[in-house]
Amino acid sequence: MKTLVIGTGGREHALALALARDPEVTEVHAAPGNPGIAEVATLHEVDPMDGAAVAALAGRLGVDLVVIGPEAPLVAGVADAVTDAGIACFGPSRAAALLEGSKAFSKEVMAAAGVPTARSFTCTSAEEVAAALDAFGPPYVVKDDALAAGKGVVVTNDEIEALAHASSCERVVIEEFLDGPEVSLFAVCDGTTAYPLQPAQDFKRIFDGGLGPNTGGMGAYSPLPWAPADLAAQVLADVVQPTLDEMARRGTAFRGCLYVGLALTAAGPRVIEFNCRFGDPDVQPVLALLESGLGSLLLAAAQGRLGEVEPPQFRDGAAVSVVLASGGYPESSSKGDVIVGTETLAADADVDVIHAGTSGGSPLLTAGGRVLAVRAVGTDVADARAKAYEGVAMISFPGAQWRRDIAAEPLGVVEGAALHA
Ligand code: AMP
Ligand code: GLY
Repeated sequence: MKTLVIGTGGREHALALALARDPEVTEVHAAPGNPGIAEVATLHEVDPMDGAAVAALAGRLGVDLVVIGPEAPLVAGVADAVTDAGIACFGPSRAAALLEGSKAFSKEVMAAAGVPTARSFTCTSAEEVAAALDAFGPPYVVKDDALAAGKGVVVTNDEIEALAHASSCERVVIEEFLDGPEVSLFAVCDGTTAYPLQPAQDFKRIFDGGLGPNTGGMGAYSPLPWAPADLAAQVLADVVQPTLDEMARRGTAFRGCLYVGLALTAAGPRVIEFNCRFGDPDVQPVLALLESGLGSLLLAAAQGRLGEVEPPQFRDGAAVSVVLASGGYPESSSKGDVIVGTETLAADADVDVIHAGTSGGSPLLTAGGRVLAVRAVGTDVADARAKAYEGVAMISFPGAQWRRDIAAEPLGVVEGAALHA
């Protein structure tokens, strides 16, 4: 099977590595890719937002499967262009990607499907915002309705900050604060059925202890030894299947990864958000542990015949990813800083350097906010964590920032907990 991965980040690097490991996959191509992906895939130039160009590239390469990594091309309809060209594509249509593209839409689908989530109001005026903030009280949760690259959500006790964020958005969703550890569950969906992957936990805030602003994710681990053993099955039954049924009923069947962001509250799992793609870095440790073939799984999902392949199998043990971000992240990011030390990890079978915002080669340079992650597998979370931090200690670049507490507390890290302190 020949495959083409679209995107440039850590998620795409982790996908390319897992595809390259699958004995059924004979070729891995990526576009535009990054220097890390270039080590396992053949890179091509393409504008990931240009559906016609992506479909043309896939046709020229004769690939059997296109995997679209990021949300922006999915929301823009790039999967539709690939599918219309007769090529199997893992990633939802533009209409189905609205589950991530509009928070208000996803809330509406959750309500129609009876999916447990935070109570919310969608507001378009200052009066509506004030009334909604009053109705729930602090901590305030204020979400830009539109895609905002991980920066659209403000969770704060400060009403002025909540009002300021709301007034910077055209349409805003204000919702009840969900109290409990956050979990990422990825469901591989074929339009009617789904297989859940192993749950992961993502550390969203920039600073240790869950302090500072939200980021795209500063580290992750999987599995979650403290979570209920039937968590994935429960979320499949209560969240994923009803959502797939509702989307199919609307004529916009969801094929691709439904990323369920959950809070495990005292009242049970509640959906924080839906995304229409794998999460980064949260999918990194999950894919590190995947033992069965990723290519055949995603191809079957893309072709609407998931039932014909075995559910995904995971090896024993655990995996941890620790992200190194550039100076200034998440408010800004520094580019062009020289990265040293990545080559020293190349020989370690248990440790990968997952590239996100890198460029060049020798020397390797920073090229974005989240620069790279060190991912390690081990016998358990503590072992994987120790190996990941040993790897982090080998790598340096000016201004590098990373959290010291990724996976330190396997017992339900509550990133919002600092708000209550
Ligand atoms: P989202 O983009 O919806 O994932 O939100 C980003 C982050 O904000 C989440 O990962 C949570 O940490 C936090 N968050 C979002 N919604 C809520 C909520 N209703 N209650 C508590 N925290 C939330
Ligand atoms: N790590 C969070 C995300 O990918 O949205």
